[in-house]
Amino acid sequence: MESNNKNLNNNQTSISYKPLKDKNIIFALTGSIAVFKAIDFIRKLKGLGAEVFPIMTKGARKFITPLTVSALCGHKIKEFFLEDQDPDISHIKLSKEADIVLVAPASANFIAKAATGICDEILYAVLLATRAPVIIAPAMNSFMFTHPITQANLETLKRLGYTIVESPVGDMACGSKGPGRLASWEIIKEEILKSICEQTLQDKNILITAGPTREPIDPIRFISNRSSGKMGFELARVARRRGAKVHLVVGPVSLEPPYGVKIYKIETASQMLDTVLSLLPKMDIIVMAAAVADFTPSFYNEKKIKKGQNVNKLTIDLVKTPDILLEISKRKKEEQIVVGFCAETEDLKDNAVKKLKNKRLDLIIANDVTRAGSGFDVDTNEVLIIDKNESILHLPLLSKIEVSEKIWDKIESLL
Ligand code: PMT
Repeated sequence: MESNNKNLNNNQTSISYKPLKDKNIIFALTGSIAVFKAIDFIRKLKGLGAEVFPIMTKGARKFITPLTVSALCGHKIKEFFLEDQDPDISHIKLSKEADIVLVAPASANFIAKAATGICDEILYAVLLATRAPVIIAPAMNSFMFTHPITQANLETLKRLGYTIVESPVGDMACGSKGPGRLASWEIIKEEILKSICEQTLQDKNILITAGPTREPIDPIRFISNRSSGKMGFELARVARRRGAKVHLVVGPVSLEPPYGVKIYKIETASQMLDTVLSLLPKMDIIVMAAAVADFTPSFYNEKKIKKGQNVNKLTIDLVKTPDILLEISKRKKEEQIVVGFCAETEDLKDNAVKKLKNKRLDLIIANDVTRAGSGFDVDTNEVLIIDKNESILHLPLLSKIEVSEKIWDKIESLL
């Protein structure tokens, strides 16, 4: 039996997303107090499907025990040279089998040695021997981090093609404040997933809209809808992982914005229109996943509308908002690709095809928002992807990130 969305737990998704399935990750921990945070990354990497092979430098072993790390990974800590009379040279075998090498936290000492090629522990030998992407997440006191030597060493590692994860500014274990903190899991995860993604959208400028708009009635009240921004945010994450420069125009939502994309916050449909049109000329692809209000109050009351005695009814006149997609289609250059979404409660396909034609779109993504697990404020969606020839691809209920991957695959086929 189908249930309405409002009966579902918002964070509930029975569909697991395993983008690191069959991937071998060498996870190296070095001597930094932030190593305690990185312990949690093991569970998260495994949650994404990865096989995690741990390495610990001597420094890391001063902060936590190898037993904790190996127990969580389900693999012994790799040691230099022969282990258990294993005829394979462990660091070479490990390097060959690795899909990614992650160093988190990366201490100043590690960064200095890695930049010079010093090779006195297994981690450094692995770095020299591997041809897998290397991701380094620094963590140290901010004076050590900003020291010209550390910065020069990081530049060297960047030049070698390593990904250096941005280190956020914040409170340090030593009591000072500044850059040098270990990046959050969200940021490290995005860099890992980007490193294994083919860069099929490299340097494309992509405009995505997400979330609801909010149409004010008075200083207290507004008209809006149930869009959470999840669909648009996942589209932005996947595009960024594939190398795009993402511009995300977003209405009022409570989610943390995706990492590595440019955010433009708006409130009303008319503000969304202005922002979108100002960005339009430089964009290659435009995807309108936002739930834009179709109507807005014809009049904004500067003061709160009072209940008043004997007033049992209030009528608010609404006028149509600008149709942003239609305005885009009128102005768009031949080579720009425009993708719309369509939220329906009945006749999904027919209504979607009408919108595809009326708004002159290259593609439309249609979701029936009355279906369980689909549409507003859930982590999953079931959609139809319809192109100009009305050929239809039906995606079953999937996580919104997987839906986004399939949508980008389809958009890329139009490039
Ligand atoms: O944000 P989530 O909680 O993850 O929910 C995702 C979603 C349900 C919002 C998303 O999947 C979705 O369907 N977005 C479009 C919702 C919508 O407004 O559909 P529509 O059928 O009313 O509009 C059709 C298209 O025209 C949309 O691309 C919309 O952005 C656009 N539009 C609508 C009105 C308007 N004035 N200008 C527009 O450009």
